Amino acid sequence: MYQWLDERFDISRLQRKFLRKAFPVHHSFFLGEIALFAFVVLVLTGIFLTFNYEPSTRVIRAPDGRDLQAAYLSILFIDSLPFGAVLRSMHHWSAHIMVAAAFLHLLRILLSGAYKKPRELNWLIGLGLLGLSIVTAFTGYALPYDNYAVTATRIGYGIAQSIPWIGSAVASIMFGGEFPGSDRVIPRLYSIHVLWLPLLLIATIGLHLLIMIKQKHTQPRYAEKVAPGKVMGVPAMPQQAVMMGVLFLVYLAITAFVAGAFLAHPIEAFGPLSVKTPDVKPDWYFLWIYGLLKIIPSSWQFEIFGGKFGPEFWGGVVVPGMLGVVAALLPFVDTRKNKLRYVELPSQHPLRTSITVGLLMFFIMATLAGYKGDPGLDWLTTPLLWTLILVVPTVTTAVSYVLMKSLYSERSEGESAAPSPGPGY
Ligand code: HEM
Repeated sequence: MYQWLDERFDISRLQRKFLRKAFPVHHSFFLGEIALFAFVVLVLTGIFLTFNYEPSTRVIRAPDGRDLQAAYLSILFIDSLPFGAVLRSMHHWSAHIMVAAAFLHLLRILLSGAYKKPRELNWLIGLGLLGLSIVTAFTGYALPYDNYAVTATRIGYGIAQSIPWIGSAVASIMFGGEFPGSDRVIPRLYSIHVLWLPLLLIATIGLHLLIMIKQKHTQPRYAEKVAPGKVMGVPAMPQQAVMMGVLFLVYLAITAFVAGAFLAHPIEAFGPLSVKTPDVKPDWYFLWIYGLLKIIPSSWQFEIFGGKFGPEFWGGVVVPGMLGVVAALLPFVDTRKNKLRYVELPSQHPLRTSITVGLLMFFIMATLAGYKGDPGLDWLTTPLLWTLILVVPTVTTAVSYVLMKSLYSERSEGESAAPSPGPGY
């Protein structure tokens, strides 16, 4: 069979070209792969869900006599199928894992300087991937049309509408109509969620990996000592492929266990859409934005030529947008030449590391604000949360900068006195 294919498509040439690529052996290099596994599981379990999900809000009579929306009822039906609830739960948990793994992978790239020349483009593509993963998860959230999911998605609808001048157009492109209410919304979110975003993700992940293969990985630090100037690692075929296969099976086992033990989003408990607004919290990766929305005072608004600039715009668009722009500019600002081939240690770049730690603290504090104090924040909690959001990140940035500086100078002194014998990173 192999020979038959080889004679027709010269696959051994492809094999020589791509499958001998060396993969560095280091656990931090598996984070991108975990994001990839999560995506594969999302697609596979998503295909199963599409067989039985009905993207419609028309009201139909359920077998138990209740009048329910078709989307909600179809999810109840999926949950009643053999392994249906577990597969839906795996889909849900994998969405969380994909976002978390992509974020941790970003941190690895950031702290090891792997975004620098020549990898600027792949850094930008990676940022796009993180954004796409989050938007894909968001568009899937309302699909069960239960009371909790609809209320949480309404926050996103409000943010889309808050963009001055073009907010209504953006909300209507994304949602297809008034949300909740219009029967166009679920079909629109469904088509974006199961077709357009997955296609975009597949194309973007493909490009990301092709660029990575072409440019080769950054090298772990031990490579500099063991074989300076050489690309070290195990070949893609068979070693790396076997490792990835095993890791994928481990991923499947863990998510199947977690999905079975902790059924995600139990829609029976939340109930169908009703006039009663439940006390909702968005998913963890939106909680920091939700926190900002809660503490920004409603008086922070003004109007220019009919365009409204309000709290939802500041917290939901401006702050995340500014962080995105800063991240996108990073490889073009940090152009210091520094042995581009090898990963850098966080302690070698005190400023970059301490700002990253400060930003993480900012996310944590804003998440705390999102978690705290529903339905409204009192006069004492709001200033306290503002103080935490502004002061804690600033202090942690300063403290970690001083710590990193001393760590690095001690290290370089140590290294000049006696070169370290073992592999580092
Ligand atoms: C869906 C999300 C993503 C997937 C599936 C993915 C996948 C991968 C994989 C499998 C690798 C090779 C293994 C590794 O170095 O960890 C890689 C490398 C890389 N990724 Fe991602 N990635 C994603 C998101 C991101 C993000 C958010 C960034 C940064 C903003 C990014 C930037 C990079 C860079 C610069 C490399 C080359 C690293 C090096 O040479 O050491 N990726 N990606």
